[in-house]
Parts: sequence; C-alpha cells; structure tokens
Amino acid sequence: MSKIKLSMPDLIKARKRLEKNTPTYTYELSKEYDELGKGKTYYIFTYGCQGNEADSEVIAGILEDLKYTKAEDPYKANLVILNTCAIRENAENRIWGVLGNLKGAKQNNKDMLVAICGCMPQEENATNKLIESYPFVDLIFGTHNIYDLPHLLKEAYDKNAKVIEVISTEGAIYEGAPKKRESKHKAWINIMYGCDEFCTYCIVPYTRGKERSRAKENIIAEVKDLVAKGYKEVTLLGQNVNAYGKDLAGDYTFGDLLYDLDKTGIERIRYTTSHPKDLDLKTIYAMRDCKSVMPHLHLPVQSGDDYILKKMNRKYTHQEYLDKIKKLKEEIPNISITTDIIVGFPNETEEQFINTLKLVDEVKFEGAFTFIYSKREGTPAAKMIDEITEEEKHQRLDRLNVLVDKYYLEGNKRFEGQVVKVLVDGVSKNNKNNLCGYSENLKLVHFPSNDLSLIGKIVNVKITEGKTWFALGELVNE
Ligand code: SAH
Ligand code: SF4
Ligand code: F3S
Repeated sequence: MSKIKLSMPDLIKARKRLEKNTPTYTYELSKEYDELGKGKTYYIFTYGCQGNEADSEVIAGILEDLKYTKAEDPYKANLVILNTCAIRENAENRIWGVLGNLKGAKQNNKDMLVAICGCMPQEENATNKLIESYPFVDLIFGTHNIYDLPHLLKEAYDKNAKVIEVISTEGAIYEGAPKKRESKHKAWINIMYGCDEFCTYCIVPYTRGKERSRAKENIIAEVKDLVAKGYKEVTLLGQNVNAYGKDLAGDYTFGDLLYDLDKTGIERIRYTTSHPKDLDLKTIYAMRDCKSVMPHLHLPVQSGDDYILKKMNRKYTHQEYLDKIKKLKEEIPNISITTDIIVGFPNETEEQFINTLKLVDEVKFEGAFTFIYSKREGTPAAKMIDEITEEEKHQRLDRLNVLVDKYYLEGNKRFEGQVVKVLVDGVSKNNKNNLCGYSENLKLVHFPSNDLSLIGKIVNVKITEGKTWFALGELVNE
C-alpha cells in the first residue's frame, strides 16, 4: 500500500513555546464529507487520562456527523480507532498488544480501517515503529488534528493509501465540535489544553502543546447547556487547571471560574488536575464557599523529597506542599485528598524514598495512583543517570502501596455510620442486586437496590462498611 506522509512528529518542535496568541476556530463540517460514513460502523478504544476520554467523545461526535454508527463488536467494525496514551512504557505496551489482536481481526475483515491517534503518534519513535512494524495501520494522526478527521478519512478511502499526519505544534482551540457524551448525567469539560510545566519526566507538554485556556464565556455556556439537559455533574479538565486564564488577557483565574460555574445551577463540580505550585487561596475559598464544588481534591505530589522534587522541576518543597494541605483542611475540614506518586525517579536514594513515605504518613491521602518512573525519550530525565535496579524500584512501589492502602481504607472507614449523597452511575459490576455511584468525596459506594430509575439521580446512602477500594451502604429516605 502506498503511503501519504502529510507530516511527521518532531519532539524538538513540540517543546517550543513561541506563539503568544492561541488561534480559536469554530468546527464546521464541510458538505463534501457529509455522507462519508453512511452504512459504516465505528469503534473507539480509549486509553490514558480523562483528556483522552473527552477527545474520544469529540471523535465519536464527528464520526456520527459523518453518519457512521457505533459498532457493538469492535472486531467487526468498519473503522477502529485507538486513542492512545504515552505517559509510561506499560501504557504503550498495552497498545502494541491491542494492535496485535487487530491484525488478526483485520485479516478476517478486509474492509476494516485501523486508525491510531492520541499521544503515542506524537512521539517520533512510536510513529516510526507504527509505520515499520504495523503495516496494517491505515491512518495515523495526533492530538492536534482530530478536527481534520473527515478529510484524513477521505484521503485514506479515496487514495487507498496509508495516511500519516501528526502535527507538532503549540496548538489551537476548536469550539463547537459535536460531542457524543458517554454519560447522560456526568460530563467532561475541557477548560484548557496542553501543559507548560515541563516536569522533567513527563511527555505531556510534547504531546499536547502549550497551555491554552478556553474563553470563560464558552465554558459557562457549555455548563448551562448541560444543566438544561439534566446533567448533574461536570469535571473540569486540564493538565494544570490552576493555571487557567494565565494565557488570557485580564486577571480572571480558576477560582473565579469556580465561583461563576457555581451559579449555573449544576449540582456537582469536580476538577482535575491541580498543580500544587499554582493552587491558590481563591481556589481554596471557592471550594469552601461554593456548594456545588465537591470536597475532593486530587493534588499530585510525585515525591516527598526536596532534591527529587527539584530534579523533577516541580517547583515546590515537601513543606510547601504540607502548608497547602494544612490550609485546605482548615478551610474545608471534610475534604478528601488524593495524589499521584512516582517511585524510582533516576537515582532516587533510599533516604529520598523514605521522605515520600513520610509525606504519605503526614497527609494521610485517601487514595493515590502510584507509579514506577518510566523513561520517556525526548524528556530531560531520560538523559539522567539511573543506577537503581528494577527490583529495587518494584520493592519501593510495594512498600509505598502498603502504606497507601492503609490510608485508602481509613478514608472509607471514616464515613461508616454517616449518610452520604451518591450520584448513581448504574448497576454494580460484581453484584447485579447492587447499584453504585460516587459520594461527594469521590468514594465509590455500592448499595442494594434494583430500582434502575435511580440511575442519574443523587440519593442518600448510609455507609455501613468501608473497604479499601469502596464502601458499602444502604439507601435511606431524605
Ligand atoms: N498533569 C497532571 C498529571 C498528568 S500524568 C499532573 O501534573 O498532575 C498523570 C501522572 O502520571 C502524573 O501525575 C505522574 O505521577 C505520572 N507520570 C507522568 N509521567 C511519568 C513517567 N515518565 N513515569 C512514571 N509516571 C509518570
Ligand atoms: Fe506532566 Fe507535569 Fe504537565 Fe502534569 S504538570 S502534565 S506531570 S508536565
Ligand atoms: Fe496519556 Fe496523553 Fe493523557 S500521554 S495521560 S493520554 S495527556
């Protein structure tokens, strides 16, 4: 098959931050592509963060605009899209595994078009490997040209060629794209895109472009529209939401946005992710003052050691992090705090690792995602000398997880006997006689009920038992 290489990723270009202004475009579907997907089905596999989940909802929206319909069986679909994540090597290994399965499926279904998008194609080495070792992949595009999908698909169909277009740019903002949301009661809202933090281990600033905020009017209008449609909860998304507005004219900040969104009538507001360095008092006060802003904060700390934090380019110290936690707990006594932690950053010593354990003991996080450092080609940390053995890294992760699990359990147990408000998501996976959903503090709660009319509603549940990963409860009347 011939190849059309429209553009290839370039990590050096991707790290540049030269553009002052971000162009904003309005999505419009050209008549030319109107019926491109008529009679065809699609399936999207989504990996990675909520940013990717939100992108997949846009991709599905665009495909349905083109008259594609969703396939029940991914391996029988006419178009399969893998929306990928590049954050760690094991995230990428999963994708190589799925591609292996798709190769077989494509042999039985010659009409299948396989496309790859998301963060992986933004990496030079991943795209080269895709081209060399996975010849059955028909279309490769990145995070910056989702909106060009109709055109890319048409090229692939008309020319019967493999199409590769990955753009390494600082990025733009597109408004007005159709979205096919997965849930009828909870919604993702991108408030900003990209990242300018350049933590030394992280690939995201290269795969997602510069930090760029959407205009507040567009965000508020989107939330109002969701309220009118009956949505109960929004999660505001950005890699560092506390930097919201810094790239716009004026001094409107994330805290101001929370106060304004509280007035829209949406019942629950969550947000992710916060950077400890930029978490300001206004945000903390908004969490305290606004009834709709939920008492849960995900505040990734990454390490508890000042030297490692410096090497990571995180721009705060162990003590500064603790000071923010203290303030948060003073203003919002009921708050639940969760975090992300990396162990085995290049040449992390036992003593430095113990400082992380200490911090976990001090903060008593009610949940944490814990990771072994993974080398990402093109980032500054990839060039650092690292002599810690894999075995040592795994042992540290295990030791950390024992501690983290202890506080996870305490975080659920503290609600025993209390009545909490749960937004019901659906039937529990492991017990068909239970419903489940999340409390205000983002605790997963299961309770006996067969009343499917409760899905999408906020109900009162008395917690009877806190477990490590969830809590059990029973429905109570108001
Ligand atoms: N923007 C968010 C998180 C983005 S990635 C933030 O700054 O908090 C989610 C998590 O993946 C990070 O918090 C970090 O803990 C982890 N992570 C990122 N790069 C990694 C790497 N190279 N190796 C291991 N974990 C990594
Ligand atoms: Fe990565 Fe740091 Fe940006 Fe988070 S803030 S996405 S960890 S560079
Ligand atoms: Fe992964 Fe890209 Fe998100 S690397 S974590 S999908 S921003």
